[in-house]
Amino acid sequence: MKNINSKPKHKKSRKSYGDLKKTISLERNLLQSLLDNIPDAIYFKDDKNRIIRVNRFYAEGFKLSSKDIIGKTDFDFFPKDQAQKMFNDDTYILKTGKPIIGKIERTLLPNGTYNCVTTTKIPIKNKKNKVVGTMGVTRDITAYDNTERTNLDMIINSLKVLDKILETKDPYTFGHTRRVSIIAERIAKELSWETNRILELKMSAELHDIGKILIPLEILNKPGKLSDLEYKMVQEHVQQSYDMLKPYSFPSQLPEAIYQHHERLDGKGYPRGLLSDKILPEAKILAICDVLEAMISHRPYRQALGMDVTLKELKENAGFKYDKDIVDVVLRMISENNNKPFWLTSENLS
Ligand SMILES: [Fe+2]
Ligand SMILES: [Fe+2]
Repeated sequence: MKNINSKPKHKKSRKSYGDLKKTISLERNLLQSLLDNIPDAIYFKDDKNRIIRVNRFYAEGFKLSSKDIIGKTDFDFFPKDQAQKMFNDDTYILKTGKPIIGKIERTLLPNGTYNCVTTTKIPIKNKKNKVVGTMGVTRDITAYDNTERTNLDMIINSLKVLDKILETKDPYTFGHTRRVSIIAERIAKELSWETNRILELKMSAELHDIGKILIPLEILNKPGKLSDLEYKMVQEHVQQSYDMLKPYSFPSQLPEAIYQHHERLDGKGYPRGLLSDKILPEAKILAICDVLEAMISHRPYRQALGMDVTLKELKENAGFKYDKDIVDVVLRMISENNNKPFWLTSENLS
């Protein structure tokens, strides 16, 4: 029987080399095919965040050839703020060797419109396990994001219908929640919050005083001073709002944000006397919008307090009761609106 081990050594190694070449060629073709046909933008960058390779989808997105992209950075293709965020992410990966998985962001397209994308970036390491670059995959999820937003809009519109119905019982409270929602949205936009987080904040604002529906109107709108018992009953609306919402599935921390909307940074709020670091950013915004709207508005039991008194309350208590950064945003927006309430338009003056 022929012994296969008796084959000349050089013949065996030549065949292996040929096989190896074929395998490498096949893998290269597969990789190229994957890169060129996958409908996601794929890009490789060096340790200076310069682009060293992109796939066809990436290049076509900019209507450029790969050659026009190689050697450049995100600053050559994106607005400065956006490119800086991308640069920061790449630098984080280069420094830590840790990936960034599924980050959702909005990007400005060459045609001037925005899209919503999810990006995963991973480190590229050499044989010595040193990070020498990054690789990213960005997927367009604009259609999915639009569907999500439409759904959230639908929910918010349903809440507005609910508001309208409840308004027939207590026009003051429910005109108030609508205006608090408008103020909260404007502040969150100034703070560059993500769209979905803003929508959730608006929902929180629309619902924040829902528990007042259980408080007798004679107490809610009583002219003059409330007794201690009556005041306690009004304060109960926070717990009642929370109890109504808690059993249902709401986005993220909506019921908790509502539960905290009368908390103050110094721990002198209610119902739990939480300190600043335990209060959600959403609740910090709601608290300021709530005070702002309530003080500017006429109530059955008192006249509107006016802009000067309201601004004094916010300025004096910024950093004590109210979040200073948010107060600063509010003060700037009011100042830019000639010291008038920026949330009062012809549509929501009621
Ligand atoms: Fe409230
Ligand atoms: Fe309120």
